Amino acid sequence: MRWQWTCDGVDWGGVEALFTAVELGGRKGDKLRRAFLASQLVCFVYDSDKLIGVARTLTDGEYHALIYDVAVHPDYQRSGIGTELLARLLERLPVWRVMLVADDDVQGFYARFGFERHTQAMARFDWDNLYDSPDA
Ligand SMILES: CC(C)(COP(=O)(O)OP(=O)(O)OC[C@H]1O[C@@H](n2cnc3c(N)ncnc32)[C@H](O)[C@@H]1OP(=O)(O)O)[C@@H](O)C(=O)NCCC(=O)NCCS
Repeated sequence: MRWQWTCDGVDWGGVEALFTAVELGGRKGDKLRRAFLASQLVCFVYDSDKLIGVARTLTDGEYHALIYDVAVHPDYQRSGIGTELLARLLERLPVWRVMLVADDDVQGFYARFGFERHTQAMARFDWDNLYDSPDA
């Protein structure tokens, strides 16, 4: 297994395919590449040349961090890769509060790291900004 912490040489079509495989929608095209390049902490996990895991984080490096786009390829899930991925991310985030969005069915995974449901979080969505173009 190879752990890469930069965007160097990343095949973005492969990243998009990984998100499709785990059914995380809305992550497509060049917008996806730009989002990773603009993230302070990125992680790509490879088995030989095959991309099997990914995650990224926005952070000020002091108080706050937001973890996004955590995914492990379905063929590799439930073998500890997600746990190692999150542990390695968290050890690189010396901040006061780490937040993330998690569907109900994966909240148990994050609870193992101390994440708790948070009643004070609010979110606003502008769906026009989800894709570069309406037919993407
Ligand atoms: C969530 C995810 C990253 C976990 O990765 P993983 O490599 O399978 O995780 P691990 O093998 O380290 O799992 C460790 C433990 O976490 C828990 N866990 C893992 N996936 C879970 C899931 N989907 N639902 C509930 N618990 C889960 C289990 O307790 C598991 O232990 P077990 O195998 O003994 O049952 C992976 O399932 C995934 O990519 N899912 C699709 C994308 C996604 O939902 N991402 C989160 C965005 S909301």
